[in-house]
Amino acid sequence: MEVSEKLAPSPSQFSLRTVTYKDAYADLANDVFKGLSAYPKTLAPKYFYDARGSRLFDQICNTREYYPTRIEDALLASSAVKIMESARPAHIIELGSGISRKTRHLLDACEYLNLSIDYHPVDICGEIIEQAGLHLSQTYEWLNIKGVVADYCDDMTRLPDHNEPRLFVFLGGTFGNFHEHEAQQFLEQLQSIMRPDDRFLMGFDRIKDHDVLNLAYNDRAGLTASFNKNVLAVINRELSANFDLGAFEHDAWFNEKESRIEMHLRSVKSQKVTIESINLEVEFAADETILTEISRKFTPDHIKTLLQKSGMKVTDHFQPTNKYFSLVMAQPEPALL
Ligand code: AVJ
Repeated sequence: MEVSEKLAPSPSQFSLRTVTYKDAYADLANDVFKGLSAYPKTLAPKYFYDARGSRLFDQICNTREYYPTRIEDALLASSAVKIMESARPAHIIELGSGISRKTRHLLDACEYLNLSIDYHPVDICGEIIEQAGLHLSQTYEWLNIKGVVADYCDDMTRLPDHNEPRLFVFLGGTFGNFHEHEAQQFLEQLQSIMRPDDRFLMGFDRIKDHDVLNLAYNDRAGLTASFNKNVLAVINRELSANFDLGAFEHDAWFNEKESRIEMHLRSVKSQKVTIESINLEVEFAADETILTEISRKFTPDHIKTLLQKSGMKVTDHFQPTNKYFSLVMAQPEPALL
């Protein structure tokens, strides 16, 4: 694995150090080859997030229809002090930190409780970490920011390791992108690197009214559609492909049986696409789809069972009165350490 370090230009009161564990597109060729040779065709959601995709996702978070960000933000605002008081970490390690918008509540709580911490944002998009770091450093002059550019699923043993208590943070319901076996694997991996004093804070989107769910992934402004199609732009650029973005349509709906939103790109006609770098010709029938993302929705019981099965125990559960979202604090099960 390649490790490169880069120091961003920064005012003297903070440090922003980004470490790249692995190139964001190291597996792209393989993943695309596999996903588009298979039937039904699939692509991995992590490839949405280049600089443009990360920006589009950020804009989605500001739409009226996309409730998770807003709700989780309010939940964090009201529970941050309680969370930090019980975790008392010296390090916050955030997986998939993006622009670190919601993290500010935790940092505010640190200030309130006089806790000094290091913040380790981990994201697949280096640009977004640097942007977030520069912004955060303007508000929190005391904060050490040590960014890590990485696919956090790749090798968790490489995440920042410290003897003082760490708080791992995984927000936004991103966990919902995982299939059941991937979800279990993710939790087990994390559990295996956690020490008794470490804590885990996680966001889960809940099952709710289907119209609310469907609208959240079909915003009127069409930002989710552009975000979805962005994966094709990434493949065009990175693998010299010739996807015509106008020949695919955004299609997202709640699959009740699987309890998940499915996001697809539907080919509006029969067509052939060439992906030069991997020597692949992909044929699409009219109306054939690529599954680009699943976003699973949970019940409190499902959450508890998932964590239990991976050797973790829920210590706190925060939810708003409409039960749209869950913030869950967990720790490794003492008996298993
Ligand atoms: C960032 C994975 C939580 O699944 O709701 C938003 C991504 N996709 N709109 C989600 C997303 C379409 C989002 N996560």
